[in-house]
Amino acid sequence: MAPNAPYEICFVPKSREEEEEDEKIYKRYKEIIATTLPIAGGLLGEPMYQYQGFWYSSRVGSVGPLAVQDHFRARASDILIASIPKSGTTWLKSLAFAVINIKSHPPSVQQQHPLHIFNSHDLVPMLEIRLYNNDFNGNRIPNLDILPSPRLFGTHMPYTSLPQSVTLSGSRIVYICRNIKDNLVSMSRFIIKMRLALSLEPMKVEDILEWFCKGRCVIGEVIEHALGYWKASLERPQNVLFLKYDKMVAEPALHLKRIAEFMGCPFSSMEEKEGVVHQIIKLCSFENLSNLEVNKTGLSDGGFLNRAYFRKGKVGDSANYLSPKMMEQLDQIIEQKLHGSGLTL
Ligand code: A3P
Repeated sequence: MAPNAPYEICFVPKSREEEEEDEKIYKRYKEIIATTLPIAGGLLGEPMYQYQGFWYSSRVGSVGPLAVQDHFRARASDILIASIPKSGTTWLKSLAFAVINIKSHPPSVQQQHPLHIFNSHDLVPMLEIRLYNNDFNGNRIPNLDILPSPRLFGTHMPYTSLPQSVTLSGSRIVYICRNIKDNLVSMSRFIIKMRLALSLEPMKVEDILEWFCKGRCVIGEVIEHALGYWKASLERPQNVLFLKYDKMVAEPALHLKRIAEFMGCPFSSMEEKEGVVHQIIKLCSFENLSNLEVNKTGLSDGGFLNRAYFRKGKVGDSANYLSPKMMEQLDQIIEQKLHGSGLTL
């Protein structure tokens, strides 16, 4: 039997009255969504709702974003791994976890490392998709106070929708995004796999991309998501680190050191001499993680297959899927949305 993910301790037993209270809270969010927000069908056959300008799939978060805003209390020492889905979240979570836990879990002892036992989404749980997702937590509000500092969480929520306590407390956010075309192709391939697993009618990449460009989870949203964090990283560089997957693939050691420094645990010169940076890069590499039993089997957040988080791990793969016409269409949208921002994607 698979061991319990470490975050499970947040779901401490509660009295019947407390459980009923939690259920009421989630029921209220469901009512708010059903009665006040725009609803539409999603690509996985699920309803989606539009909240504060962004579309959310009920499959990956249900009422989560609303619950996070009301109930998550950030600490100054918290670190949030924020991202657009399919931009390298699984990788960044692995790197951040390995760095934060370097003393208790030295990367030199790879076979016993938690990353060999758990998918990184189980080690760095998503706030809205896992911890405050009523569909996966049995309608319970988690008690995150019992987690020791520094706490590491993930989120796909846009910057403007993060709970106020994140900005007020001074928590740090490490954000990752990626070349938009690669991001969209990666998302499309993920959706294709998931539709197969859910026995939904097959879809082609081109159809899904058309859908992204015209409908919900529009490309503009992906860009606006990145723009929100980009602006925050310019305004609050000590609190928001903005990373690009493509650059990290090109220079992993440089970026890993930046991440460690930003998170407040830079590598010592002794650690560098001992090759710790390269041990972490190897531990978290696509080749290593994608071949681990835990990532070949098993399910993670939202009931997704762990193996669906690993596809090719390459930069520029969109060229193999997008027609010149589609490339041009995307270039126009990207140019228009990013114009004057100083951000390139
Ligand atoms: P591709 O579909 O282009 O291969 P996310 O974790 O945000 O869902 O992003 C998934 C993307 O990151 C996929 O991209 C996946 O293959 C890639 N990926 C997963 N683990 C990785 C790793 N350890 N190193 C580099 N890329 C990784």
